[in-house]
Amino acid sequence: MSESAFLRCINPDCDATFAVNQALTGCPTCGDLLDVDYDWDRLPVPKNLREFESRWSLRNEPLEFSGVWRFRQLLPFAQENQIVTIGEGQTILQQASAVARFCELPEDRLHLQYEGLNPSGSFKDNGMTAACTHAHMVGAKHAACASTGNTSASLAIFASATQMFRAIVFVGSGKISYGKLSQALDYGSKTLQLLGDFDDAMRQVQDVCREEKIYLCNSLNPFRLEGQKTIIYRVLESLRWQVPDWIVVPGGNLGNSSAFGKALHELKHLGLIDRIPRLAVINARGANTLYRLYEQQGLRWNGGRLDRQILDAFYAEMDKSGRRAATLATAIQINRPVNLKKALRSLEVCDGVVREVSDQEILDAKAQVGAGGFGCEPASAASVAGAKLLRAEGVIAPSETVVCILTGHQLKDPTATVAYHAADEEQFDRELGSHGVHAAPFANNPIVVENELHRIMEVIHGLN
Ligand code: F0G
Repeated sequence: MSESAFLRCINPDCDATFAVNQALTGCPTCGDLLDVDYDWDRLPVPKNLREFESRWSLRNEPLEFSGVWRFRQLLPFAQENQIVTIGEGQTILQQASAVARFCELPEDRLHLQYEGLNPSGSFKDNGMTAACTHAHMVGAKHAACASTGNTSASLAIFASATQMFRAIVFVGSGKISYGKLSQALDYGSKTLQLLGDFDDAMRQVQDVCREEKIYLCNSLNPFRLEGQKTIIYRVLESLRWQVPDWIVVPGGNLGNSSAFGKALHELKHLGLIDRIPRLAVINARGANTLYRLYEQQGLRWNGGRLDRQILDAFYAEMDKSGRRAATLATAIQINRPVNLKKALRSLEVCDGVVREVSDQEILDAKAQVGAGGFGCEPASAASVAGAKLLRAEGVIAPSETVVCILTGHQLKDPTATVAYHAADEEQFDRELGSHGVHAAPFANNPIVVENELHRIMEVIHGLN
C-alpha cells in the first residue's frame, strides 16, 4: 500500500516526491509545504460513495467505528494494523432551522456540522488520528505542537489514550481558554506556556522539533490534513451524497480550508462527485491575514506561483507595526497561518470567498447557535456569522444549501459565553468591552433572586 502513497512538494517548480515513511513537515529540497499524494490508479477506490454507508453495520470494528477510518480508502497511506484510533469522528450534520432564520435563509437550507462531538471536543481529532497513525509508522517517541488550545487538547488525549508517545504542547501565555488548557494538563502532556502568542509558539515548536527530532503534529504536517478531509466525507454522507452549494468554515491556521479543498478536488478527480461546492473561509477581524491578502490585495494561488512581493510586503508591514492577532475567538487568533498557500489553492478549486467578521458578530451568532440547540465555542460561530454576512451581501442566494462547520464544543470556552449572557455590566465590560463587543442582543440574563420561596415564586409567575 505504501508505495502508492507518497509525499509531494506543492511548489510546481520543485515537485519533489518523498516516501511516506519519513517525518517531513516541509520539503527538504525547497522548504515549501508537502501534500500526501496517491497513485489512485493502483488503489482500490470505491466506485460509488454509497459503498461507505454499509460500514455502519460493522461498527463493532474500531476502524469502521471511526468516522475517519471508515473512509480509509480515501486516505490510504497506512496499513490497517498501523492505524491509531480513539473513536474520533462520530459527528453529525443537522438541519438548523432557527439558525437558518438568523442567517435569513429558508429553514431547510442551513446545516451545521457539529465537530464538537469529537473525543477532545473539537475537529482536531480528525487530523490527530491521522498524524498519530503516521507517528506510529515512523516510530516516534515524542510528539509536539503549538496550539491555541484545541490541537494541544487533541494531541494530549491521543498521547494519554494510546500511551504510544509523550506529548509536549506549546501554548501562548494567557492566550488559551481554561477549558482547553485544563485538557492538556489533565491528559498529562508536558505543557509549555510560552511568554508569547500562538504565532511565536508555532515558530518555536518547529525549531524544537527539527533540532530534537520530535514529531510535529500541527497542520503543517500533511497527514493531519488527510484526516481532516473526512469532515467533508461525513457532510456529504449526511446529505445522502448530494453536494451542498456552500461550505463555510472559520479560518485560523487554515488547515481545514486546505484539507477541504483537497478532499473535494480528489473526489471530483475520482469521479465520486460531479461538482464542487463553493468554500467560504471566515476570519475574525482581529486576525484577518487571509481576508486581507485574498480579498483586498488579490493574492491568488496562481498555479502554485504566488506573488511573493505581495506576501513579503504584507508580513514586513505586520512586523514593522508590531501588529498582533487579537480576537475573542482565541482559537483563530493567528496572524501567520502556516497553510496559507494550500488555502489559496482550495479557494481556487472551490471558487471560494473570504470574509472577516467582528467579535460582536461572532458572539451574536454564537448565542443563536446555542439557542438553536447546538452550542459551540466563539471561533466556530465565525462560520455562522460569515454565512449571515454572505447572505446579506447576496453572495449566498436563498435557494442555496449551506453547511457551516462548528469546529469546537461550547464548553471549551465558557468565559465569553457567560460574560455575554451576564446581567453584570462590569463583567461584560471586563471580558468583552476591549474586544469591541458592546451589546448582547441575544443575551439570556441569569436572574438573581433572594433565597425566599415567595421571592422565587414572584419571579416564576413573572416569566412569560
Ligand atoms: N475553530 C477552532 C475551534 C479551532 O480550534 C481552530 C484552530 C480553528 C477553528 C481554525 O482552524 O487552523 O484549520 O484554520 N485551532 C488551532 C489550535 C490553531 O491550535 O487548536 P484552522
